[in-house]
Amino acid sequence: MPTQKIEGQDEQFADPVAEQPGFDNTQSRIAILGHPIHAMSVSFPIALTFCTFFADALYWWTGDPFWARGALWAVGAAFLFGMLAGLSGTAELLLVSGIRVRAAAWTHFIIAVTLLSLLGANWGFRLFGYESAVLPYGILLSMLGVLVVSFTGWHGGKLVFDYRLGTSKGK
Ligand code: HEM
Repeated sequence: MPTQKIEGQDEQFADPVAEQPGFDNTQSRIAILGHPIHAMSVSFPIALTFCTFFADALYWWTGDPFWARGALWAVGAAFLFGMLAGLSGTAELLLVSGIRVRAAAWTHFIIAVTLLSLLGANWGFRLFGYESAVLPYGILLSMLGVLVVSFTGWHGGKLVFDYRLGTSKGK
């Protein structure tokens, strides 16, 4: 079993996760000409989650029902595009060995599913009256959505830029 030497220490250790076959293979399988569909599709739910919050804030400020209706459409589209992005991400997670084996990829999955539940709840709640839903609970759900989508997006970026997920064919 290959071991790694820590500088300044006599001890040797082996990382059992790094020993897994296919650990270095992180190449995206759900891609168009090598460009991961997940990375391309996440922009839509991210932008629409921010739009929902801004539409709610404008409804609060102006009282114009146009913004409440805009928020209903924005959060519905955020949820549906988020589900599509989530499907491509889940396929990557299950199909690519180097992604499946890393705990950080599963952490991203849990944060993302939390986000999708929040978007679904925010949308469903508004279907029973899109104007009355905005204040106070709709806008509070939208604020929470902005926080969770920011964390999800940041963490997804970490998967790509720190762990190089989606990028390497392996040895
Ligand atoms: C629900 C299940 C999800 C899973 C299993 C998942 C999994 C992944 C994986 C494996 C990557 C690494 C790149 C790749 O292989 O494509 C990634 C990247 C990323 N994910 Fe997700 N994801 C999910 C949902 C979401 C959602 C809902 C969002 C945001 C709305 C999101 C935002 C991101 C971002 C921003 C990146 C970085 C893309 C880049 O910079 O190239 N993910 N995700």
